[in-house]
Amino acid sequence: MRVLALLDGTIVDPRAPLFRADDLGVMRGDGIFETILVADRKPRELGPHLDRLERSAGLMQMRLPERDAWERAAQAVIDNWPWDTAPQMALKLVCTRGVDGGDGTPNGFAMGMQIGADTLRKRTEGVSAVTLERGYAPDVMERAPWLLLSAKTLSYAVNMAAMREAEARGADEVIFTATDGSVLEGPTSTVVIAQGRTLLTTPPSSGILKGTTQGALFRAAEKAGWKTEVAKFPTSALFESDGVWLASSVRLVSQVHTIDGTEIKSDADLHAEINRLYESNY
Ligand SMILES: Cc1ncc(COP(=O)(O)O)c(C=O)c1O
Repeated sequence: MRVLALLDGTIVDPRAPLFRADDLGVMRGDGIFETILVADRKPRELGPHLDRLERSAGLMQMRLPERDAWERAAQAVIDNWPWDTAPQMALKLVCTRGVDGGDGTPNGFAMGMQIGADTLRKRTEGVSAVTLERGYAPDVMERAPWLLLSAKTLSYAVNMAAMREAEARGADEVIFTATDGSVLEGPTSTVVIAQGRTLLTTPPSSGILKGTTQGALFRAAEKAGWKTEVAKFPTSALFESDGVWLASSVRLVSQVHTIDGTEIKSDADLHAEINRLYESNY
């Protein structure tokens, strides 16, 4: 199931061609995107997603259509989604730098997509993960902004290759590590660990994406009396913690039960509490 809207709010046939072959997004992955969960017609964390889209465009030095246009397109998709049969959808906002040699006019769209069975399974059954090195030092983002480490660009081929490597090793997910052995993020998720009543995640300054789901979880956790911390932590902390989760907009907060073939603490009650906290935002 797909519902596709242009930025003027027009609904178009999702099977019809939309981009020119010489669009830089098509030829070079030169563009940005966001993926937003819409549950019962309400987009979750729309403001933070649009903020991040703007931040990504800034890092990419590309023009971005106005916020109004994204909101209009998102609403058009929501208004045309078959809510009776599919109560949740993944809403993609995509923007490319436009055609090669053009005047820099960006091309964008909003598309609603059905949530895959694999994602739903990860929500309920939890995941196994492997740690894979990303090959960057955690301070490279500041030294080398051209690596675009904290932007959500369309160039996800490396992230998808890492997911295939996980699959080849018999795991569901990846946890990337930096050259100093500290934990970074998943290819499409933020890593959160619990140490007692403290939730901990890696700082975006280590060259990771600032997660909107992690942000929502921490917001609710703080209100409920948890301590939250955004700080670097070593890979060993994954094995010593009281729980590890991978958070992302559509998969939500999935519990990790196995890392590199070793079972880790994955308490069902704690997982239920973490999920209640996250859901209490909505
Ligand atoms: C690399 C990366 N890190 C983290 C996340 C989690 O971000 P969010 O919670 O905003 O979906 C994503 C989402 O797809 C991602 O691609």
